Amino acid sequence: MNRKYRKTIIAGNWKMNMLASEIKPFVEQLKENLPKTKTCEIVLCTPAVMIPAMVKYGKECKIAAGGEDVSKFEKGAYTGEISAAQLADVGAKYCIVGHSERREYHGESDMLVNEKAKALLAKGISPIICVGESLAQREMDLTMEYVAYQVKTALSGIDATQLRRCVIAYEPIWAIGTGKTATAEQAQEVCEGIRAVIRKIYGARPARAVSILYGGSMNAKNAEELLAQPDIDGGLIGGASLKPVDFSVIVKATDQD
Ligand code: PGA
Repeated sequence: MNRKYRKTIIAGNWKMNMLASEIKPFVEQLKENLPKTKTCEIVLCTPAVMIPAMVKYGKECKIAAGGEDVSKFEKGAYTGEISAAQLADVGAKYCIVGHSERREYHGESDMLVNEKAKALLAKGISPIICVGESLAQREMDLTMEYVAYQVKTALSGIDATQLRRCVIAYEPIWAIGTGKTATAEQAQEVCEGIRAVIRKIYGARPARAVSILYGGSMNAKNAEELLAQPDIDGGLIGGASLKPVDFSVIVKATDQD
């Protein structure tokens, strides 16, 4: 982390778990365990139908509500889709795009991720852009090339002002939901590489200001070491974000100087 130049963000990704009716007790338990002084922005990304409840009950602990996906289209005949304007209207401040599960199960391409990020920015929502290599790519030593390509494509056509609202999440696919975390060194190396890619496109100042998160089996035990890395500005947390006590421990792990 480097709190001097950029925001530290701990974001939960609930995926297709939990119910809207469980949000109130979740937030109450989280609140009991959260530190009094806030050292990071807390975000909880949930299925869109749960965002209004998150906005309502999350207010007290200053939790920002987020979506997990968005349509690239502004509006129209796209049955089942949810637009950026609709997310903004119910109070979403963030939205994940390009999660590896969307890429894998819904065939989402890097070009589509770029369109979705732009759709969110147009409505004032911060995209959390997920990138990350597969195990095969890591073993072939293609990690940085592949991730650099993903970042460049996702940010195509996004100007420096809009970049300030963007968050990048480095999530090696082999670490998601597997309990196999990247080592702090591996995660730092790629996050540093991502910042270098952004520096090449936008220059030093904008690159220094972008929050880059690590995601992939981050938990109450390994968060502190990962967050101690200079280019890791927070986490995108799946499994551990469903447990309020564990999630609060990760939030507390941002309090290090
Ligand atoms: P995990 O998920 O923390 O359960 O590995 C992370 C993610 O998918 O964003």
